[in-house]
Amino acid sequence: MTDVAASTAPATLDVAAVRAQFPYLERPEGIVYLDSGASAQKPRAVLDAMHEFGGLHYANVHRGVHRLAVEADAAYDGARATIAAFVGSTARETIITKSVTEAINLVAASWGAANVGEGDEVVITQMEHHANLVPWQQLCLRTGATLRYLEIDAEGRLDLDQLDGFLAGGRVKLVAVAHVSNVLGTRNPVAEIVRRSHAARARVMVDGAQAVPQEPVDVAALGADFYGWTGHKLYGPTGIGVLHVRRDLLAEMPPFLTGGDMINVVDFHETTWATGIQRFEAGTPPIVEAVGLAAACDWVGSIGGPAAVIAHEERITAYALGRLAEIDGLTVVGPPEAAGRGALTSFAFEGLHPHDVAEILARREVCVRAGQHCAEPLHRAMGIPATTRASFAAHTTTDEIDALVDALREAQRIFA
Ligand code: ALA
Repeated sequence: MTDVAASTAPATLDVAAVRAQFPYLERPEGIVYLDSGASAQKPRAVLDAMHEFGGLHYANVHRGVHRLAVEADAAYDGARATIAAFVGSTARETIITKSVTEAINLVAASWGAANVGEGDEVVITQMEHHANLVPWQQLCLRTGATLRYLEIDAEGRLDLDQLDGFLAGGRVKLVAVAHVSNVLGTRNPVAEIVRRSHAARARVMVDGAQAVPQEPVDVAALGADFYGWTGHKLYGPTGIGVLHVRRDLLAEMPPFLTGGDMINVVDFHETTWATGIQRFEAGTPPIVEAVGLAAACDWVGSIGGPAAVIAHEERITAYALGRLAEIDGLTVVGPPEAAGRGALTSFAFEGLHPHDVAEILARREVCVRAGQHCAEPLHRAMGIPATTRASFAAHTTTDEIDALVDALREAQRIFA
C-alpha cells in the first residue's frame, strides 16, 4: 500500500520530461499516438530494464542454484513484490499470468467451476470487454447457471438499484465488472459494488485493465475478491497479466493449468498441488516481462505516480471532450464530463464509417482504434455499429488533441 499512499500526494506531471523518455517520439513522422487504450508505448526505463536483465542476469526461476538462477529468482520475486505494492496488494495474493484475459479465465475455470452451478447466477454488465464476458458466458453455459446483465443508461453508467434487485434474489455467486470501460470511459463505483455484493454473499471480479494505467488503484481498499490487469497497458511489456486473489479464497481454488512448478508431489498416477499462488503458475513464467512490468511500475512512480497521471489525463480528456464537441455530427459515447471519467473518447461520426475515419487519421499519423473494441454486445446495446476511439496517456498533449480534431475535420471534408 505504500506506493499507492505516496502517489496520492499532489504531484504534477512534467509532460515534456515524460515525452523525452519515449523512443517512438523521436521518429521523423511526428506520430500522434492516441491508442494507449489498446496498448501503451514503452519508455526507455522499461526497455532498458528488460535488456539488462535479459542480457546479464537471465535464467529460469525456482529451478536452479547457480549464480544466474539465484539472480533471476531475486529479480522475479522482487518484481512480483513491486507489482503487488503498486496496486496495494501483497505478493502472496498476486498471480502472474500471460494476460488479463488469462487471469479472468483462471478465475472462471478454477473458482467458477468449483463454486458456480445450476440455479446460480453470474452478474456482469453490458459494458464488459469480451475478456470479462465470454469466460462467464461459457461458464454459465457449461454449468447451467444464469448470466444476467446490468444495463447502461444513456450516459453509459450503471444503475446500482438494478444490482440490488439481482442480489435480492439470493442466487448471485459472482459479480464481474470493468473498473473503467474501454469504450465508454465510465469509471464504475467498484468499492460500492463490492460492498453490496458481499452483503449478499456474492464474490466480485474486477477487470482493471484500463484502470491501473490511469488512476491510483488500491486493491485491498476496494475489497474485490479477484482483481485482474495487464502489463502492456501500463507502459510495460506484452505477455504478462496480473491476478490478485484474496488469500482466503486461494486455498479453495483448484488448479487452472497443470504442469511444472505448480505441483507438490507427482508420481505416475497422481499429483498433489503446490499451495498459494504457486499453484497457479504452471510452467516457465514470463520472467523478463515481470522485470519489465516492475520497471514500468517504478517508472510511473518516478513521473509523479498514478495521482499525477490521472490529474494530467483528466485535463487532456476534458480538453478532448470540449474540442470534439465543436465537430458537427460527432457524438461521444459515455459520461459527458471528464471528472471521474477514463482517459479515452469513443465516438460515432454521422455518415462516416469508423474504419474510414481511422484510415484518414492514419494518413496524418494520428493513431486511433476503430471498430467495436472487443465490446460487441455493448455496441449493440448502444445501437451503434462501431466507434472510433482516441485514448490518452501520460505523454498526451493538447497539441495532439488539436491534431486529432484537424484530421477529423479533414475526414469530414473528404467524405462530405
Ligand atoms: N482491450 C484493448 C482495447 O480496448 C485491446 O483496445
